[in-house]
This record gives sequence, C-alpha cells and structure tokens, in this order.
Amino acid sequence: MFDLIVRHCSLPDGRRDTDIGVQQGRIAAVQTALPASAAQELDAQGQLVSPPFVDAHFHMDSALSYGQPRINQSGTLLEGIALWGELKPHLTQEAIAERALRYCDWAVAKGLLAIRSHVDVCDPRLLAVEALLQVREQVKPYLDLQLVAFPQDGVLRSPGALTQLKRALDMGVDVVGGIPHFERTMADGAESVRILCELAADKGLRVDMHCDESDDPLSRHIETLAYQANRLGLHGRVAGSHLTSMHSMDNYYVSKLLPLIKEAGVAAIANPLINITLQGRHDSYPKRRGMTRVPEMLAAGIDVAFGHDCVMDPWYSLGSGDMLEVAHMGLHVAQMTGQAAMRQCFDAVTTTPARILGLEGYGLDVGCHADFVLLQARDPVEAVRLRATRLAVVRRGQLIAQTPPQTASLMLPNRPSSTDWQLRMPDGHM
Ligand code: FE2
Repeated sequence: MFDLIVRHCSLPDGRRDTDIGVQQGRIAAVQTALPASAAQELDAQGQLVSPPFVDAHFHMDSALSYGQPRINQSGTLLEGIALWGELKPHLTQEAIAERALRYCDWAVAKGLLAIRSHVDVCDPRLLAVEALLQVREQVKPYLDLQLVAFPQDGVLRSPGALTQLKRALDMGVDVVGGIPHFERTMADGAESVRILCELAADKGLRVDMHCDESDDPLSRHIETLAYQANRLGLHGRVAGSHLTSMHSMDNYYVSKLLPLIKEAGVAAIANPLINITLQGRHDSYPKRRGMTRVPEMLAAGIDVAFGHDCVMDPWYSLGSGDMLEVAHMGLHVAQMTGQAAMRQCFDAVTTTPARILGLEGYGLDVGCHADFVLLQARDPVEAVRLRATRLAVVRRGQLIAQTPPQTASLMLPNRPSSTDWQLRMPDGHM
C-alpha cells in the first residue's frame, strides 16, 4: 500500500508509461503497471514527470524590489548599481524576508524547489543575512534554500567585509562566496580567491564565486580558483559563477584552462538571461554574446548549470522564477540545438545544479525524496520549447502546487470550431 501513486508518467530518461509509488515521503517504486493501490492516485496521462527544478545562482535579497525606490529607466548595469545604492539604506529585515517569501511562492508554483542564493555580507548590520536565514527555516518544508556569503563590494576592497563574511558563516550561511574580478588589482583578486578557498577548506564548506563577470579576456580568476580548489582538495565542492570573460579569451589559453577546471572538479554556472543582457553591452558591432563556453565545457566533462541570477530587481526588470525560461535562453545563446545538447539544457536546470548544491536524495530513483513536477509536455525538449505548464508540484509526497493545463479554443472560419490549441504536434508524430 502506497501513500501516492502517479500513473502513466514519461520520465526524462525516455521511459514511458511508468508508475511512481510513494511511501512516507520517499519514492518506493518506479515501474510499469505497478500492481498496488494507494491512498491517492494521480494520472499523468503520458506527460513528463521530472525531478524539481534547481536554481544554482540567485540573489534573493534583491529579488522583487523592482520599482524601489524607482524604476531602472535605462535598463543598464550602471543605473542598477546606483539604484541598489539608493535602496540599501532603506532596507529592513522584514521587507527583505517578505519579498523573499513571495519569491519562494512563485518558485514553488513553477516547480523550483531548491535555490542557491547569494546574500550580500557587505552591510555591517547583516540585515539580509538575518532575513534570509529566517526565510530558509520558514520554507524548509517545501523548498531547499542554500545561502552563499557574498561580499558584493569585494572581500579585500570593502573594509570589514572579511570579518562580516566570517560572521555570516558562523550564523549559519552555507557556502563561501567571492568576487575576485571586483577587487582593485588582479593580484588582490587572486589573493581573495586564496583566502576564501582556505576559509572554506578549514570549515568544510562549499565555494561559489562570482568569477570573471566581465568582457575582459585577461580576467583569469577562474584559473586561480581551479588551482586553489586542486591544491586544497576541494574537488566537487567549488563553482565558478558567470565566467563570462571566457567568451572573449584567447582560444589557445582556453585549451589549457579547460583541463585544469576539469581536473580541479570545479563546476561552472552560467546565467543566460543576465549574461545576454549585460555582456558585450558596450561593444559596437559585431556584438559579443558574452555567455561562457557552455558546450565546450560540457564536452570537457565539466558540470555546467544555468542560473536565474535576478528576478525583478535593480539589475533585471523581468523574470518569473521559471527555470525553463532560463534553459530556453541558455539553449539559444549557446546555440545548443543538437538533440543531446537540448537535453543537456534541461539537465542544466535540474540534475546538474542538484549535484553542484550537493542536494541529498534528489532524483527519481527508488529511495529518493518524493519531490517531482508533472509538466504539460511529453519530454524535456518539449518542456523547454513550451516553458511547459507545471500541472502538479509534489514535495515529500504531498501535492503543494497545481496549475490548470494550458488550452485555448479557436473559433475560425473554415476550421472545425472546437480545436484545442496546445502548441503541440499530434501524438505519434515525433
Ligand atoms: Fe550573481
């Protein structure tokens, strides 16, 4: 006897007509025609059941602050930075927590059940840290929030930042952050990477740095990050976020860099929506795309995830917590239109970031947490194409969100009048 059975699922690995049985919040069976009953049954009707979406790179302390104190009229990074400066003195712990909780609601509705969020530690009051630690506890039953101590103004450049970063870790922040390209010199950048990686090694923590988020081909802090990860034995625990300078680097240098990143077990996190809007912005034509070398890193065996980075904040006025929108943009910007490559874009917002975050019990195997999303799509590529509706979101075996299927009725001359419009090829066509 199961608590829940979801029947007739398609799975991301291509299995069809599979039943998933859930017992006590865990997946207890995955097989065709499960000969059992359950307190609750759900018919997937051949649609895709995926493990939940995971966002490996986000800023929850600024999310949904759009319009406060005013709207970014130019849409540029510089006006965004100025805006954040204007807003900072007026921030309160309650307001940050309230916005974060609202964003977590959006995330759950979109089947996004794990988020790694950077939190600015350069404010000596550590208001955002307090707020997001409180939110992390509050959302724990339905969403895994992992926090990164992020010295937004530079751990060496900003007075007191290292002390505040250590305080944030002592308060319970999970991951060590950094921003080497924002330090005053290349040497300071490299030194910040050394200090922060040693701190993480001492404390047994993971590392995730904003690294080389620029168009400068000589911004090579990823090399130092990989070197330090290797030296300190941090394999599998370090991520470099953005890495946009790699887009502009010399090809010979990159051919030497990729094996170093792979050897060090360092993962990469690209943020397609933000990279394509910010990078190459000051170029004349031709304009660089600026996103890091995703297919090349994947080919070298490096884990690459896609993050959302920002949603409705001073830097980005759009976004909705939809990781399929992120995958869709990543696919286009990286020109990953091959069959296997499109699948990799789906993995970049599900299984790969789950590995980078070190999520326990993630997946659709027997023994994993019963966390999954029923999508209005038949396979991962269709899910990306349609930014498919999340028909049902399940956490620990409990239904926590539902959205009605997308349909439209057409009333057209010379066409049957009741055609359902689902933007899908007929069954059996593909
Ligand atoms: Fe970021």
